[in-house]
Amino acid sequence: MLVALAAVVALAAMLALAGSASAHDLVGTWVPVELTPDMLAREPGKVRVLVVRAAAGGLTGKVVIPTLAGIPLTVAQQGDHVRLVITMARGMETPIEGTLTADRLSLGPPGSTKPPTMLRRPTDEERQALERLAPKKLPLPALQTLPSNGLARTPPMGFSTWNHFQTNIDDRTIRAIADALVASGMRDAGYVYVNIDDGWQGARDDQGTLRPNEKFPDMKALADYLHARGLKLGIYTSPGPKSCAGFEASYGHEAQDARTFAAWGVDYLKYDWCSAGMIYDDDEMPAVYQKMGEALRATGRPIVYSLCQYGRVDVWKWGAAAGGNLWRTTGDIADAWQIMAGIGFAQDDLAPFAGPGHWNDPDMLEVGNGRMTAAEYRTHMSLWALLAAPLIAGHDVRSAGPDTTAMLTNRAVIAIDQDPLGRPGRRVVQRGPLEVWSRSLSGERSAVGFFNRGTTPAKIEATFAELGLARRPVARDVWGERSLDVLERSVAADVEPHGVVLLVLEARPPDASPSPPHQ
Ligand code: GLA
Repeated sequence: MLVALAAVVALAAMLALAGSASAHDLVGTWVPVELTPDMLAREPGKVRVLVVRAAAGGLTGKVVIPTLAGIPLTVAQQGDHVRLVITMARGMETPIEGTLTADRLSLGPPGSTKPPTMLRRPTDEERQALERLAPKKLPLPALQTLPSNGLARTPPMGFSTWNHFQTNIDDRTIRAIADALVASGMRDAGYVYVNIDDGWQGARDDQGTLRPNEKFPDMKALADYLHARGLKLGIYTSPGPKSCAGFEASYGHEAQDARTFAAWGVDYLKYDWCSAGMIYDDDEMPAVYQKMGEALRATGRPIVYSLCQYGRVDVWKWGAAAGGNLWRTTGDIADAWQIMAGIGFAQDDLAPFAGPGHWNDPDMLEVGNGRMTAAEYRTHMSLWALLAAPLIAGHDVRSAGPDTTAMLTNRAVIAIDQDPLGRPGRRVVQRGPLEVWSRSLSGERSAVGFFNRGTTPAKIEATFAELGLARRPVARDVWGERSLDVLERSVAADVEPHGVVLLVLEARPPDASPSPPHQ
């Protein structure tokens, strides 16, 4: 008897290792064991629900935060061992592992010593409450390629409230920022869009028209104020019912909101996925974004359309067809070297997808927010210029010091970013922490960045061949505002830790001096 039992156990273990079906079914909805009906009624945004589905290619799933978000994940099951990978943004994957029993799923980060999160099946009552909280999917348009709106021939430049102010914004602050953009010379350097990010939204009126909250008494008047100063107004909403910060958003009101924005005089819309993930699956993103793209076109007002879905589902392949002028390629930036550098230096493969009218957006600038060194901010600006990235400043323009303003308004750096060829740069050399990036510019010039991601000073060198140069160029050091001597077959520069030497190379004209007369 014992022997027989041991054989069964061994067989079961073998089957589990071979990836055979589990004794237990993972498909369906899982809720935290401690969930009460009261929590779902009062604070649904604090509940995490796991939904696993059987799809054609295997299991798939979502973490749903009722009313706020739905985040996709990949699901793998081997026996009763479960592995989930949450994909927030391109390159931002969080693995979770756990064990399944008949009525419990325990989950936690791999290797963690903390007690796992315990999940159970919802009761019928909880299941009904969850269904009530999940809005129904509305029909989406058939996919098509929207014609270009002719805007953003060079990467958009402006200011956004998010990085510095988050939702702490109001009409008075926006007007003061507009004045500061003018007074500081930033407007004249090209920073014309004043983008109000999350936190301006109020409630809908009886007709369903979205109203600003009490901090923005009159959006049309605010737009007029900006327009009178040669600036433009940007605004923010989501295809989901709620914005990322939990404000009213455009789900089911897409065309109506587009008309409202146009009537106010809005010139730029950032459309942020946020809670749309509760309703739609990632593969429906192109249609969801096209729906607003069509709505904006239908208003007849030129409105730059900025897609924000953190670089999921290869947005660079369909963003322009959905009507987008720019699309975020990453999760959120922060005023921190590791995050800025992690985002900026990971953009190389996306270069072929951007060009006049449609840009990769590695997120807004942190220059001037105080948590990086001057060298790090120069790296940030230089890299964004080489990437042909939108330059959307994110600091408090009202109190910016002269160094911040000088860095952001450096005409030669902006000229690289705004070069009319609109061709983003590529990494041409990588040696450990040392990288060289090169961007073709109009007029047979190129911009080259020698980046030192390391923590000690370094000499960086790139041969003419690596730089794609047919002959010896002349070089100008952009930040140093001086010319740089070029070697016989290479260009070299000493670069400080976390710093950059940014160059513009120009093909040296063939030697014009007459050759010495023959004797
Ligand atoms: C998301 C976006 C940010 C910002 C916030 C606002 O996180 O990626 O850029 O718009 O939402 O809530």
